[in-house]
Amino acid sequence: MTEPRPIPMIDLKAQLEVLRPEIDDAIERVLASTAFVFGPDIRELEREYADFCGTSEACGVANGTDALHLSLRAYGIGPGDEVITVANTFIATGEAILLVGATPVFVDIDADTFTLDPAQLECAITARTKLILPVHLYGHPADMEAIDEIARRYDLPVLEDAAQAHGAEWKGRRAGSLGHAACFSFYPGKNLGAYGDAGMVTSSDADFAARVRQIANHGAGTHRYDNVVLGTNSRLDTLQAAILRVKLRHLERWTEQRRTRAAAYTRALEGIPGVVLPREHADARSAWHLYTIRVPGRDALQAHLRERGIASAVHYPRPIHLQPSMAGARGKEGDLPVSELVSREVLCLPIYPELRDEDIERIASEVRSFVSEGASRR
Ligand SMILES: Cc1ncc(COP(=O)(O)O)c(C=O)c1O
Repeated sequence: MTEPRPIPMIDLKAQLEVLRPEIDDAIERVLASTAFVFGPDIRELEREYADFCGTSEACGVANGTDALHLSLRAYGIGPGDEVITVANTFIATGEAILLVGATPVFVDIDADTFTLDPAQLECAITARTKLILPVHLYGHPADMEAIDEIARRYDLPVLEDAAQAHGAEWKGRRAGSLGHAACFSFYPGKNLGAYGDAGMVTSSDADFAARVRQIANHGAGTHRYDNVVLGTNSRLDTLQAAILRVKLRHLERWTEQRRTRAAAYTRALEGIPGVVLPREHADARSAWHLYTIRVPGRDALQAHLRERGIASAVHYPRPIHLQPSMAGARGKEGDLPVSELVSREVLCLPIYPELRDEDIERIASEVRSFVSEGASRR
């Protein structure tokens, strides 16, 4: 009997095969120009990505972590300040806050959407709060309307961590334009991924964007060697910008394909006892960066799938308030019951535009047989 085909978490080779001629042209153009730093593709990508998000500004930076870090610096956030965020996220969200010397204040999430629960937000606001930083986890936007209503009352800016949410929408408006500013990662596995590291900050506040640009370029003033604020080198490089411009042209189609795959998963997995499926809020258009189910005994299901050649991932096994590197935030077990429960149960199944219908059927039937084998053992 032939072994069934392995199903990876993501298939960048399949994507590259289709894009190859366009990517080769883009790379060749940059090589021919030798404009490796500050080449014209960067400004073009920034303009195109701002248009895509519906903002007036987009600033290319070296990666998504820097997008967060530089944004916090551009807000002037530092020691003594508090930033409200969630713990069910990639470590970079918390790192950026601690790196500027501020304190992350973690609030719990809504179990249906895995994003900041607006009902928990107001009681976390103190006189020291300077910013609200929701995360559009797995491509599902946080409830930006409810968050914005509270933020306005307290006159606080909202910075979106949209690292996983390129093309997601809330009430028809794109992630990137939902808060005062937003941070994106173009890590290769993201819905819009570079061939290396890259990131972007979007906003419609031109002064804020100018501050981000300045800090990302050694704090330079009008003259290159006139360094007026403490900055760093966090430039997006031209080759990555040229590659991202190619991929941006395909992003909307890929998002639709992800949405079709997510709907197929939901049809195929519905009704399996004990398996909680991800839900899309009525006002949201998820970009389905990940299709994340919840299941008690998650590790055993992951092993079951692995043995049958099916990859899966746990994003994230430990909420970040319990990470040793976040000790400065003084989080402890029991602080965030929903985030902690979810981290024990989440399993992300493969989802990408090239994933086939029969792959989804096979994955769903393995989840089903795992659950029924468990039931027959009880
Ligand atoms: C939610 C979230 N925030 C921030 C980041 C950081 O982005 P990067 O890896 O490009 O630094 C990521 C990337 O994995 C992420 O998923």
